[in-house]
Amino acid sequence: MLWVPIDRDKPIPLTRQIYTEFRDKILRGDWAAGFKLPSTRKMAQELRISRNVAIEAYDQLFAEGYIESRQGSGYFVAAGIYLEQFARGQERPLPSAGDQPEHLIDFRSGVPALEQFPRSLWGKTVQQVCHDAPLSAFGYNRPEGRAELRDVLSRYLYRTRGVQCTPEQIVMTSGATQALTLIAKVLLNRESCVLIEDPITQDIQSIFTSTGARLCPVPVDEYGMNMHSLPSPLAGSRPRFAFVTPSHQFPLGTTLTIQRRIQLIQYARSVDCYIVEDDYDSEFRYESPPISSIQGLAPERVIYIGSFSKILSPGLRLGYLVLPETLVERYHKAKWLSDLHTPSLEQLALGRFIEEGHLEKYISKMKKLYKKRRQCLIEALRRTFADRATIWGEAAGLHIVAAFDGISFTPDVLTALEAAGVRVYPVEEHAIGKGRHEDKIVIGYGNVSEDGIEEGVRRMGIVLSR
Ligand SMILES: Cc1ncc(COP(=O)(O)O)c(C=O)c1O
Repeated sequence: MLWVPIDRDKPIPLTRQIYTEFRDKILRGDWAAGFKLPSTRKMAQELRISRNVAIEAYDQLFAEGYIESRQGSGYFVAAGIYLEQFARGQERPLPSAGDQPEHLIDFRSGVPALEQFPRSLWGKTVQQVCHDAPLSAFGYNRPEGRAELRDVLSRYLYRTRGVQCTPEQIVMTSGATQALTLIAKVLLNRESCVLIEDPITQDIQSIFTSTGARLCPVPVDEYGMNMHSLPSPLAGSRPRFAFVTPSHQFPLGTTLTIQRRIQLIQYARSVDCYIVEDDYDSEFRYESPPISSIQGLAPERVIYIGSFSKILSPGLRLGYLVLPETLVERYHKAKWLSDLHTPSLEQLALGRFIEEGHLEKYISKMKKLYKKRRQCLIEALRRTFADRATIWGEAAGLHIVAAFDGISFTPDVLTALEAAGVRVYPVEEHAIGKGRHEDKIVIGYGNVSEDGIEEGVRRMGIVLSR
């Protein structure tokens, strides 16, 4: 049964109402790429509209590229149309301006301390680069990015993350998000299956499923992806790759142990699939040095993703892929098709920023700040909730997860928290297999001051003890 709420009394033509409903479902990701739409005849019958109205609505969706037609089989949702902000906007209605408390404390994860961005140093570097850059930097450049930056980056990655690569294996991208999108474009289609940590950020799930690929979720425990839950190499279809966030699992925050890293490499070799290692925030590790990458253990098997969003600013949109040599050419082509290349002057500025040692100094300064914020958050949670709250994933990154005994973070509870002026993010939103993480929330502390953290936890305490 097709459920489309059409309202004949509205001053909006029926064609437009149906078009909008279908478009929104596609943008939200409710209907993934490859989803077969009902025939115009069936739609007309079920919605009691004329067939012409149904045809016109499909014509409009088709003309704008939301759907595609396949001869003799009807209409299907086109690939790559999920819009993250669109989906977010629909998930949880935010209180209207009138309802919102004066100062909402937003514990959104993955946002660094924006007020700390080294504006003048970065500005100076951009200015110098603009002055010194060769003429070629102002023209069209190669899809993989500027050689100057890739050269500096390959040395930085070896030094800090144990990544083994030549500059030729690096492709600069617009953040880790574009790196993930390129991976999906090059490696996936509707026959593919992806082994993926469960839970894992919804955005990443959507990027992979937008190609029509199937997710094969592998549960995460306190040591990362549970290797006992990997499908047997003999059981049917071969995964295209296993996706992991081994340094600091998102959202649960665990670190994949070395034993499991080795098991994962052995598994990938046995089924002949890649490992995609998303190393989005590994630099911030508080009690021990950063853990080396899986890439360094098996460079021929691993596609490594990095980003400057957490260590500098998400607004820069700078990230990269480190590829096995055999894949490099295909990614150049995919990047070129996507946006020709990442802006050259920003790349040169970043290269110089790293080369002159500013990045590592900045990371070391920020690590101290985040460590204090993290400590403040843990203490505030302990003071307010004692042993009713269990903390996960505090060893690294910019967020922790807190599990609350006897509490389920339903939409009502989240709305009550917002009304009290604090926004937190349920882990269950990121779960593929539902029902195991309803008691947990993600609390991002990167962009919240210590005062804000204390006040936010106080507000949580009032609501959650009701
Ligand atoms: C696990 C994970 N990977 C990738 C990203 C994307 O980061 P970027 O800003 O580099 O696109 C995020 C963002 O928070 C993330 O949580």
